[in-house]
Amino acid sequence: MLLLKTIAETWNACERMRTAGKTLGLVPTMGALHQGHLSLVRAAQASCDAVAVSIFVNPTQFGPKEDFAGYPRSLEQDCRTLEAAGVDLVFTPSAAEMYPNGASTFVEVAGLSDRLDGASRPGHFRGVATVVAKLLHIFAPERAFFGQKDAAQIAVLGKMVRDLQFPVRLEVCPTVREPDGLALSSRNSYLSDEQRRQALVLYRALLAVQQQLHGGEHDPGKLIAAAMRILDEEPAVRVDYFSIVDPETLEDVLDVRPGAALVAVAALVGATRLIDNLPL
Ligand code: PAJ
Repeated sequence: MLLLKTIAETWNACERMRTAGKTLGLVPTMGALHQGHLSLVRAAQASCDAVAVSIFVNPTQFGPKEDFAGYPRSLEQDCRTLEAAGVDLVFTPSAAEMYPNGASTFVEVAGLSDRLDGASRPGHFRGVATVVAKLLHIFAPERAFFGQKDAAQIAVLGKMVRDLQFPVRLEVCPTVREPDGLALSSRNSYLSDEQRRQALVLYRALLAVQQQLHGGEHDPGKLIAAAMRILDEEPAVRVDYFSIVDPETLEDVLDVRPGAALVAVAALVGATRLIDNLPL
């Protein structure tokens, strides 16, 4: 496994793979790897000749009061995990390598970036779009792999790739959960046992919407009200948003139809912000 820290080395390594006729799959991450990340690696291995993983805790996607400094970092363990998984290349740049000399050019996906998480985390999706655009330039992969877990991120990046005509296919992989339903997240390590138990209410509320939809309820107001009653069972869980949206535009849907909507939630459990969603 190649472990690279500079853009120049990575560019050359990718060029060598292309010359050898290999297709490349890219899995962008911020590290603190778990089975959700590894499911993306496996999906990439299934459809590409070579797989690259980037590990970069991207400062521009964190707000000034967010957890950039405390975000879990486990680079050595992550590299061992990726080596064992058979990954070909790992890119772990410094912030100075990714944002040289006060870089001031950003990618902004107007409109979409202000919805769902973008509404509560101003500037977050500008940081995500900018760093992913840079990674797509550095690797020029045929395919890049993302998790359904971050549904708004997928909508923003899908629009960016279409608008800026990146020659890449974005692949979306299903959310990996703990056996009790909690979506895997690097931030779950912040939760106490009690908070972890409380956090399960998010998935219960999402499932309730899915069940009621299958039972014939299409009114988003009623579906959301039923979910909020479930969320009220855990007063320590403070809901940021609970929305039923179009998965591409992230706009509220007025009539919920299976196959054309996404139910998404964000909430604070203690100081930890968790997100989850279900495509309906
Ligand atoms: P990070 O949170 O490390 O997630 C990296 C990728 O793993 C994302 O595509 C995310 O959706 C996916 N992922 C996380 N939890 C998952 C789960 N439980 N099941 C399936 N996939 C899961 O998302 C980011 O990093 C950053 O915003 C990034 C795209 C790397 C840009 O900095």
